[in-house]
Amino acid sequence: MSLESHNALLDAVMTAAPVIPVIVIDRVEDALPLARALVAGGLPVLEVTLRTPAALEAMRAMAGVPGAIVGAGTVLDATQYDAAIAAGARFVVSPGLTERLAAAARERAVPLLPGTATASEVMAAREAGFTRLTFFPAESAGGVSALKGLCSVFRDVRFCPTGGITAAIAPAYLALPQVACVGGSWPMPADAIQAGDWARVEALAREAAGLRRGAKG
Ligand code: 3PG
Repeated sequence: MSLESHNALLDAVMTAAPVIPVIVIDRVEDALPLARALVAGGLPVLEVTLRTPAALEAMRAMAGVPGAIVGAGTVLDATQYDAAIAAGARFVVSPGLTERLAAAARERAVPLLPGTATASEVMAAREAGFTRLTFFPAESAGGVSALKGLCSVFRDVRFCPTGGITAAIAPAYLALPQVACVGGSWPMPADAIQAGDWARVEALAREAAGLRRGAKG
């Protein structure tokens, strides 16, 4: 599948809501109520990071929630890419990009949203055919002002900044015209998941879903 058709799929993922919840899940039994709360709050795109043993089974459960668009995060290689697809991922996110991961993306129907943090990394990703990128780790890589600088030179790139973003700082990223959405864990705090406080998760998701985006070119 061509990377152009991947772009169309990624654009749909990146514009479905202003915030992509980046989920680290420890207990499979939390997957369904967590996904339902986020979707009910207006955040249908769910990035489940492959950092815990529960992640793939959690993804399978979440993929069955009506309206949910489930993807995998922290995908580092082709083996994890395939495991994510088998678990129902409709997109995969990686913290960076390697030649082998880029080749894997070209051979698969499920699109890759790779991570970049510097101008050289964005150039390498563009050369490999990727123009939908995360800016990761956003806050420690220079925050809004660094991303603004990247946007001013890479006019064809659409970014999803992720990493250290809070409800307070998210609007500044979303105001940048090339920022389609932001990723973050703040809508589902670990203590809320631990306590099964799904009403709190839904309320935080609703606030996040109400964030406004800047004009898109
Ligand atoms: C990640 O863990 O991939 C990102 O940094 C998002 O999580 P955070 O919002 O907690 O930084």
